[in-house]
Amino acid sequence: MRRLYVFDTTLRDGEQSLGITLNVQEKMEIAHQLVRLGVDIIEAGFPASSPGDFVSVQTIARDLKGVTICGLTRAVEQDIDTCAEALREAEYPRIHTGIGVSPVHMEKKLLLSPDQVLERAAAAVKYAKKYMSDVEFYAEDAFRADPDFLVRVIAKAIEAGATVVNIPDTVGYANPWEYGELISYVVNHVPNIDQAIVSVHCHNDLGMATANSLAGIKAGAGQVEGTINGIGERAGNTSLEEVLMAVYTRRGGYGVESRIHTKEISATSRLVSRITGVPVPDHKAIVGANAFMHASGIHQDGVLKDRETYEIIKPETIGVPENTISLSARSGRHALKHRLEELGYEVEGEALDHVYRRFLELADQKKEVFDQDLYALMGDTAVDETVSLKRLSISTTGIDMATATVTLEIEGKTLTDAAFANGPVNALFNAIDRLTGNEATLDDYTLKSVTRGSEALGDATVKLRYSDGAVVIGKGISTDILEASAKAYLNAMSKSSLFKPLHK
Ligand code: KIV
Ligand code: ZN
Repeated sequence: MRRLYVFDTTLRDGEQSLGITLNVQEKMEIAHQLVRLGVDIIEAGFPASSPGDFVSVQTIARDLKGVTICGLTRAVEQDIDTCAEALREAEYPRIHTGIGVSPVHMEKKLLLSPDQVLERAAAAVKYAKKYMSDVEFYAEDAFRADPDFLVRVIAKAIEAGATVVNIPDTVGYANPWEYGELISYVVNHVPNIDQAIVSVHCHNDLGMATANSLAGIKAGAGQVEGTINGIGERAGNTSLEEVLMAVYTRRGGYGVESRIHTKEISATSRLVSRITGVPVPDHKAIVGANAFMHASGIHQDGVLKDRETYEIIKPETIGVPENTISLSARSGRHALKHRLEELGYEVEGEALDHVYRRFLELADQKKEVFDQDLYALMGDTAVDETVSLKRLSISTTGIDMATATVTLEIEGKTLTDAAFANGPVNALFNAIDRLTGNEATLDDYTLKSVTRGSEALGDATVKLRYSDGAVVIGKGISTDILEASAKAYLNAMSKSSLFKPLHK
């Protein structure tokens, strides 16, 4: 079996597309989970792109050991200097530098001739090598490049010292057999290819990123790049969890082995969804809520006789344990702790007391508390202590007028105000704005139910945009959807450094 290195770019290619900037703590939380998942390389950001990205890469590089931390650059010396500085304290640093190699990138974007691109590629790798031994070169838009030119660029980059060479399908244009052929072409025609690992990096514009990455692995690539849940630019990147489970489930077919702990896949997916605010569709392969559900009678009958009739992956393999006990208001602390442990959460002492109190509040409102409720409960970030929701009431007159009365505790003071609008959620947010002095605009608001049924928990997500362009995401859950919405709104505000509650 060849070793397959797993390169996660959720924090760079994934985050760059969201229109949001994750803060350092959020990035750290995801990075720690990626370590538990067992990825080999974490691309933590593009340090020259913003001071915030620089600090995130620097913090992750300083605090996370035992894993390669990578930063992206253009083939520009200043970018490389900034990236090397951000990675200075990393145990295993890697610079990922490169340049566009397709005709449209060279002629229209870079205004460079092919020879100039060759020169810039080699110079960038050589420059990065001044700082560290591990340098990855990317040939942007490689799939639409002339294959012989691509071979020359890759050979030059390896000659200059690249240890990994990335052949991206930047615009998701390839068919699986074509991408596989391109990787074979590189493997068979680049004379010094034995001195580097070939990496695949695919985008999902035609829905083929996973298939293309697998074709590339089959053709000889030793590294796969992607993001958790496939988040990324436009239609997204390769979903790492899909590639990893394909390689795991069909091991013989690919001849490669990764060092991934598959049992962490479900937890990683949930965390990334919660922090980025990007929901995972129910039907999503591997990590969707319905991925292991059997709805039709024929399938249910088959699964009850033998799971293998309709299941190719055991849910436990990705960290979704079989449920044997039903949790309700009569369940004790021990039963809750046991189930949380099965779901991958370690909670003890005061933290357990706190979760148990919240669990009982929830169980009072619902007959049965499901795993999805527990995930929501565990992911429900507490609102900043300086502002908390005490009471809210909404009244509606007709179909287009609502009044909200809200009581908040702001830095120890209890304050009440009311506002009206053309709907209850708008009225609620207006009342909170009056009380807090919030000036951010509402960019997006979604509400979904965590489980099915009339008692289900409502899970609200709010995106607020601040005057400096920063977007923050807040989450809130409650069996009362307006309370969930208010909590999500306050949670988003509490995450912004620009939010200073009014002192009335
Ligand atoms: O898709 C792409 O080409 C990239 C490179 C910058 C690696 O993300
Ligand atoms: Zn990309």
